[in-house]
Amino acid sequence: MPKVAVLPGDGIGQEIVPEAIRVLQAVLTDSSLRLEFKEYPVGGAAIDRAGRALPAETLAACQEADAVLLGAVGGPKWDTLPAPERPETAALLGLRKALGLYANIRPVRMLPALADASALKREVVQNTDLVVLRELTGGLYFGEKGRKQNPPAAYDLMIYTEEEVERIVRLAFETARLRRKKLCSVDKANVLETSRFWREVTLRVAAAYPEVELTHMYVDNAAMQLVRDPEQFDVLVTENMFGDILTDLASMLSGSIGMMASASLNGKKGLYEPAHGSAPDIAGKNLANPLATILSGALMLRYSFAREKEAQAIEQAVSKVLDAGYRTGDLAKPGDKVLGTKEMGDAVLAALNS
Ligand code: NAI
Ligand code: MG
Repeated sequence: MPKVAVLPGDGIGQEIVPEAIRVLQAVLTDSSLRLEFKEYPVGGAAIDRAGRALPAETLAACQEADAVLLGAVGGPKWDTLPAPERPETAALLGLRKALGLYANIRPVRMLPALADASALKREVVQNTDLVVLRELTGGLYFGEKGRKQNPPAAYDLMIYTEEEVERIVRLAFETARLRRKKLCSVDKANVLETSRFWREVTLRVAAAYPEVELTHMYVDNAAMQLVRDPEQFDVLVTENMFGDILTDLASMLSGSIGMMASASLNGKKGLYEPAHGSAPDIAGKNLANPLATILSGALMLRYSFAREKEAQAIEQAVSKVLDAGYRTGDLAKPGDKVLGTKEMGDAVLAALNS
């Protein structure tokens, strides 16, 4: 039976992850896929219990598992630890590195019910439904870096291998194929040699996907277009630093941080987590929005287990609940029906079965 390592972590992680598991179990009741969920300590909770944010047992379980579902880590209690020992660095970066997660996927979907919660106007964002794929292990952040003297200077080298470009671009084509079949590759090919190389590799991969319409866009223009007219995009793929900036920009198109799911993949193996943190200010009060984690569970079914139908069933159940006017506190406006964390989980379960 395929295994899912479950890492609730700290703060609201302890409240939102159980809701995602309940929804996953419910959507799989009538399916041939059976998943074994097993919980492991991570983050501050693991520091308190085992002295380390990423205990060896947890890491081994994640390496052995087919997928990892993570809540969030960190909190004021551990902020005074030296950086390498802190939950965010030791656990999150440690896991990404150990699992070789090279693709970060962030869907940005504006649910009509939430269009007024965006930083942009309703008319601009109301039909936004895009996915950004960011390369996660190459480029400027991992190239050779150093200092020079006379005159004092510093450098970071941008380097990409063919294999690194090919695997993320292929995943982007696969993603586009299951959606509206439009892929926009974002680069800076007018000035960067790595970008010209990125384009060559992308064009070669494109030959295997004639049904997907491929376009190229310079990153500065892409930043402008995401704000001007986000509805033009279906799937975007880009290198590490461009993606770092564009994913944060794109995340502000949709309503709340409590809605943002993410996947980090190495082939079929993936780590799935909400984009937000452990929200110590509301932890333990049944106030957290579990939808980003529930939607991360849908991404797990899509990317690690190729269950598109079940993934969409979860996404549709979430839309239904919001369309019916149910909100957690972070999304609520006067007149909305305000639910706690558990009750929002119940509402999604009810919508799944309706
Ligand atoms: P945060 O995302 O935890 O919270 C920011 C604000 O958004 C808070 O007001 C919080 O109440 C609210 N919020 C976040 N998620 C919510 C949800 N699901 N429902 C309702 N409201 C929600 O970011 P912050 O405050 O900067 O960090 C808190 C802790 O989390 C820190 O220790 C930080 O290092 C850690 N962190 C962990 C991440 C991870 O595990 N991937 C990512 C970001 C932060
Ligand atoms: Mg960032």
